[in-house]
Amino acid sequence: MNYQNNPEFAKSLDAKDKLKSYRQRFHFPKQKDGSQKLYFCGNSLGLEPKNTGDYIDEVIEDWRTYGVDGHTDAEYPWMPYHEFLAKPMAKIVGAKESEVIIMNTLSVNLHLMMVSFFRPTPKKRKILIEADAFPSDLYGVQSQLKFHGLDPEKDLILWQPDQDQYYNISDFDQLIDAHKDEIALVLIGNTNYYTGQFFDMAHITQKCKLHDITVGFDLAHGVGNINPDLHQLGVDFAVWCTYKYLNSGPGSLGGCFVHEKHHSNKHIPRFEGWWGHNKTTRFNMRQAFDPINSAEAWQLSNPPILSMAAVRASLDVFDEAGFNNILEKSKKLTGYLEFLLNDLEDDNIKIITPKNPEERGCQLSIRFLDSDKSFFEKLTKAGVVADWREPQVIRIAPAPLYNSYEDVFNFVKLLKHIRYAG
Ligand SMILES: Cc1ncc(COP(=O)(O)O)c(C=O)c1O
Repeated sequence: MNYQNNPEFAKSLDAKDKLKSYRQRFHFPKQKDGSQKLYFCGNSLGLEPKNTGDYIDEVIEDWRTYGVDGHTDAEYPWMPYHEFLAKPMAKIVGAKESEVIIMNTLSVNLHLMMVSFFRPTPKKRKILIEADAFPSDLYGVQSQLKFHGLDPEKDLILWQPDQDQYYNISDFDQLIDAHKDEIALVLIGNTNYYTGQFFDMAHITQKCKLHDITVGFDLAHGVGNINPDLHQLGVDFAVWCTYKYLNSGPGSLGGCFVHEKHHSNKHIPRFEGWWGHNKTTRFNMRQAFDPINSAEAWQLSNPPILSMAAVRASLDVFDEAGFNNILEKSKKLTGYLEFLLNDLEDDNIKIITPKNPEERGCQLSIRFLDSDKSFFEKLTKAGVVADWREPQVIRIAPAPLYNSYEDVFNFVKLLKHIRYAG
């Protein structure tokens, strides 16, 4: 057996890990016997940081103490509360503070962005999306097409993956070259929720710009997991959620990026609400809508501070740990998982996530060619929290902030036991 495939080796990696103390700062679900579950589901719902309760309690306490004056008098006043989130959030998505806003939830934000940035003309009216996009994104683009009187059958172009679910960028290029005069919007779910493939955002954005095509990304599986460098690449817009790798709690708020090149354009159509209006005159009431010169202009309502407190708690942990450290560990941790799986030398186990670490985040999607869901259920019973996606795929996402090398080792050990001994 390879010396790396050994619990002592996994422990030695943990001992050297700069981020090892962060594991203690999260609540792990427990098994009946009180032992910690092996949690690998940060791609669905991240674990609760232990500081979350305090941040929420602080808002509750301020509400109790100040009533309505909490908007201005609380230590973290509610009026500008979303502004406290913009800086740490911007670092994670590679944006300027003014380009980022935490608001609503992902699918809502996607629609708001398409209201502004999907402006079809009779000729340039199509949307291109990856074929296996998350269903909500597909419903979003299909319903936007219908909303504009267009036909989703004809006006939606699907970028197809190969037989291994891998999306080749050359196929994307060919689609753009063939339809460049008809495509108004490219919307890509980056990182792909099913395979964990991270598409080449620089290439996609550049190609779209060449042909005057608006480009947006759904970063639900990317945010906190890869560095999307949104500003530098010149992406038009992006949306994401904060409940996966950003650990902000079930159904928590979404994030939105609008490139600054669009901020001062007063002609961009948008759905308007009072929280997008110029802050200095917002309370004068009855004035014509005067959009804030930032991504804040897309806000509609005054925000839910209790939910924002959970986002602030989580972003503070992220900021303290340092996003580059998180990304660095992520590559090593996922690489270790990949190594251990490959070391099984089992022809019926196929990792469908790209091998190249630059083309993925922390998730590995593993296809078990000879197993059905009962195998996954046995893993679950043994204390593994992961998810099953038809057909035959288990997604495992070791999250660098709270997973250890030993977790990864123990997962593969359990998998081996169930597969070959049980
Ligand atoms: C890739 C992707 N897009 C969109 C969504 C929908 O998110 P929401 O329910 O927050 O709108 C999800 C949810 O998991 C997702 O994974």
